[in-house]
Amino acid sequence: MKIIIVGASGTMGKHLAGAFETGHEVITAASKGCDIQVDITSTASIENMFKQAGTFDALISTAGPTFIGPLEKMTDKEFRKGVDGKMMGQINLVLIGQHYINPKGSFTLITGALTHEPQLNFANASAANGAVEGFVRAAAIELENGIRINAVSPTVIENSPHYFPFFPGDIPVTMQQLEYGFRKAVFGANTGQIIKPY
Ligand SMILES: NC(=O)c1ccc[n+]([C@@H]2O[C@H](COP(=O)([O-])OP(=O)(O)OC[C@H]3O[C@@H](n4cnc5c(N)ncnc54)[C@H](OP(=O)(O)O)[C@@H]3O)[C@@H](O)[C@H]2O)c1
Repeated sequence: MKIIIVGASGTMGKHLAGAFETGHEVITAASKGCDIQVDITSTASIENMFKQAGTFDALISTAGPTFIGPLEKMTDKEFRKGVDGKMMGQINLVLIGQHYINPKGSFTLITGALTHEPQLNFANASAANGAVEGFVRAAAIELENGIRINAVSPTVIENSPHYFPFFPGDIPVTMQQLEYGFRKAVFGANTGQIIKPY
């Protein structure tokens, strides 16, 4: 399977690229330092990525920039980070990618437990997650040629200890649980699902 991983230089993406490169052709993408450089806030850049990659079987996105900070200090400008990044960036990966993906291919986007379990300082991520999850459910009933779409929604993950204090009481998701959530999305048959790997 030819798998594009957008966000492949990050904490999640690095692990997934390592896990999936056995037995698959993995193409890594991020703003810098990967097989392909892409800025998901730019539709031209996304189009350019797909042109470089060519047709593919699965796209995984673990790129979802958001603003982290208190609501009191948040303005339209900060909020746009999640709207242009985690929300529209990932949605545009699908809107553009649908014209490059092979029949029976799949899209797997990243959201997070913050959709339904808010934490202080993460209103931007909660909102972006909710939008992406709504899009996943809706796109699933329109994508043609057996193309599937799902989201993986973990709570804080074991390789991100700097986030532990923001998620009191949450048992971190192990990297193996995270990986198997993505395995279910990419290699399973589900579509329109929000997969909680815990
Ligand atoms: N870490 C957690 O505990 C956790 C838990 C639940 C959900 N999440 C969500 O999961 C996602 C990934 O988390 P992570 O911890 O793996 O993040 P990370 O370590 O910060 O990695 C983010 C990746 O996305 C890329 N990226 C960021 N902005 C981009 C852009 N505009 N265009 C292209 N690539 C871009 C980064 O590449 P560059 O550095 O080159 O830009 C990097 O490869 C985030 O949306 C986060 O909200 C994280």
